[in-house]
Amino acid sequence: MRQPFVAGNWKMNGTKASIEALVAGIKAGMGAVEKAQVVVCPTFVYLDQVAGLVADSAIALGAQNLSKEQSGAYTGEVGAEMLNDFGCQYVIVGHSERRAIYGESDKLVAEKFAVARKAGMTPILCVGELLEERESGRTEEVVARQLDAVIALEGIDSLADAVIAYEPVWAIGTGKTASPEQAQEVHAFIRARVAEQSGTIAEKVQILYGGSVNGGNAKELFSMADIDGGLIGGAALKPDDFLAICTAAN
Ligand code: PGA
Repeated sequence: MRQPFVAGNWKMNGTKASIEALVAGIKAGMGAVEKAQVVVCPTFVYLDQVAGLVADSAIALGAQNLSKEQSGAYTGEVGAEMLNDFGCQYVIVGHSERRAIYGESDKLVAEKFAVARKAGMTPILCVGELLEERESGRTEEVVARQLDAVIALEGIDSLADAVIAYEPVWAIGTGKTASPEQAQEVHAFIRARVAEQSGTIAEKVQILYGGSVNGGNAKELFSMADIDGGLIGGAALKPDDFLAICTAAN
């Protein structure tokens, strides 16, 4: 039985004051969250603040990105050891915004996945197709390529302590959610792809869905056999919506 998992990706949002209120709101409702592991991923500058705010709760801390380098002359970058130093247990790698806007390749994403693990963090590996890729019937090819890049570099066993997030790019921030059946189809494909190399890891690995998840659609999505939770953007910025999603995993 896989534990449900809900992570909030706050992206480049928030102020000290709004983040304090957001975390307070989430903490106030955590009593109703029975099963899900809840993670919040603020932007780098707020990690320390959020680490302090969640310290006495069941909420875990994650980052949204990291450098593939350890330390040194890499202006503007943040390394895995630094994230660890601030109490991050999780880090998102390969979010489609990183891939599309910042040109991160499958290889770079795999390298970031590797350094995150090496530092003892659990990577949340995002995969997903663009609208034109779905429309031309290439969803599985794209998702397989993104997943295989990580397996090629780190080996199948690396997925034993990782989380995968399937995020169709056309569903992110658009209000257009994949239907539960559309999402399940890709989740099952991902699990089967992992199972080709290890049945045990395929059974164990949590596969989240991301893309316009909200309090109204979460329950149906999470009821699908291979959907183990969600990676939440917009709705993670509102405590009530985020909590509704977390409790939908009960
Ligand atoms: P969204 O974002 O929930 O706002 O669609 C999801 C994500 O980008 O992880």
